Amino acid sequence: MTILVTGGAGFIGSNFVLDWLASPEYGDEPVVNLDALTYAGNLENLKSLQGDARHVFVKGDICDRALIDRLLAEHQPRALVHFAAESHVDRSISGPGAFMRTNVEGTFTLLEAARAYWGAMAEQAKAAFRFHHVSTDEVYGSLKADDPPFAETNPYEPNSPYSASKAASDHLVRAWHHTYGMPVLTTNCSNNYGPYHFPEKLIPLMIVNALAGKPLPVYGDGQQIRDWLYVKDHASAIRAVLAGGRVGEVYNVGGWNEMANIDIVKTVCALLDELRPSADGPYARLITYVKDRPGHDRRYAIDARKIERELGWRPAETFATGIRKTVQWYLDNPEWVSHVQSGSYRDWVSQQYGS
Ligand code: NAD
Ligand code: DAU
Repeated sequence: MTILVTGGAGFIGSNFVLDWLASPEYGDEPVVNLDALTYAGNLENLKSLQGDARHVFVKGDICDRALIDRLLAEHQPRALVHFAAESHVDRSISGPGAFMRTNVEGTFTLLEAARAYWGAMAEQAKAAFRFHHVSTDEVYGSLKADDPPFAETNPYEPNSPYSASKAASDHLVRAWHHTYGMPVLTTNCSNNYGPYHFPEKLIPLMIVNALAGKPLPVYGDGQQIRDWLYVKDHASAIRAVLAGGRVGEVYNVGGWNEMANIDIVKTVCALLDELRPSADGPYARLITYVKDRPGHDRRYAIDARKIERELGWRPAETFATGIRKTVQWYLDNPEWVSHVQSGSYRDWVSQQYGS
């Protein structure tokens, strides 16, 4: 048995692959990892798997149908877990094209390749095959302060080019099940944080900027709310849905942990004050309010009762334990940080935040 993972050199994908191969239930089951190694993909995340025959890395694009056909035929996976995407909202605002290509066309290409492969499978293997689509809570739009959290039945109201492209991909996955009977599963997850998070996203950006004595840019009034989940809990949720989720169903995944951005930033500062105090004073001195993100969604929150009721999944980490591990991980891995802060990273930072 083998699984094919796309985007397994990115933040969540690499955590998923590492956790999969370390888990007692699945550790013997190899992973074929297809990733284009864009700016967000990083083989250093998978360094501990070097020379491990259970991990087969393939550099390639999910829009390349011939390559996907070949990988499916060669490795005969029992499941495809699809993480690969352009994932950063700010980049989708300055350049939406790549999001349409990878998130929409790429998902379409994978679905078509998987449909041909699945259609030709023997009955037993065909019944067991799964196409697991990893998606986001952003497809549901923005909540008002007193709205209930997003349930699986919420209407789709994507507001950014990123969330619109993910919504489109979710619709394709749904349609391939409804029309062709493809055995799909979809998870819509809230904001992740943890090791290997690329420092263009809020939490790792705040950690690396604080350590470098640089401003901590908070968009608008800093009162936007996100529901934060430790990345390894997302990995365990995907394993649970893949193992026991009902075909064709959607499962929302979240941390039951709504926090305003400014409180996230202050928590990171307080942890750094404790773990790596600065001679220049508390890190919160670096907090700088900057121009808001266009179309900025005010609040996301996930109602994760369905996955708990049906599959018994709940996050293992609280925000207090997860954020402490995360800050400590960045303190322990300065080489990883300095390697990802390459020329193209510096170009993005100066384009987005100016000098
Ligand atoms: P990421 O940007 O860190 O990683 C994306 C990976 O996909 C990278 O390794 C990149 O090289 C690869 N990739 C991009 N385009 C590709 C292509 N055309 N072909 C093959 N590989 C390609 O993203 P992430 O944060 O790890 O997110 C993974 C998935 O989870 C995405 O689908 C995202 O929408 C979803 N998601 C993310 C979050 C979050 O908080 N980060 C929350 C919910 C859902
Ligand atoms: O909700 C799930 C989504 O979470 C995923 O689908 C996306 O792939 C992932 O990137 C994330 O999207 P966000 O836009 O919520 O994450 P980001 O880390 O970019 O921003 C989190 C919040 O922090 C958001 O309200 C914007 C704000 N922010 C972000 C940055 C980078 C700042 O205030 N300053 C910043 O410099």
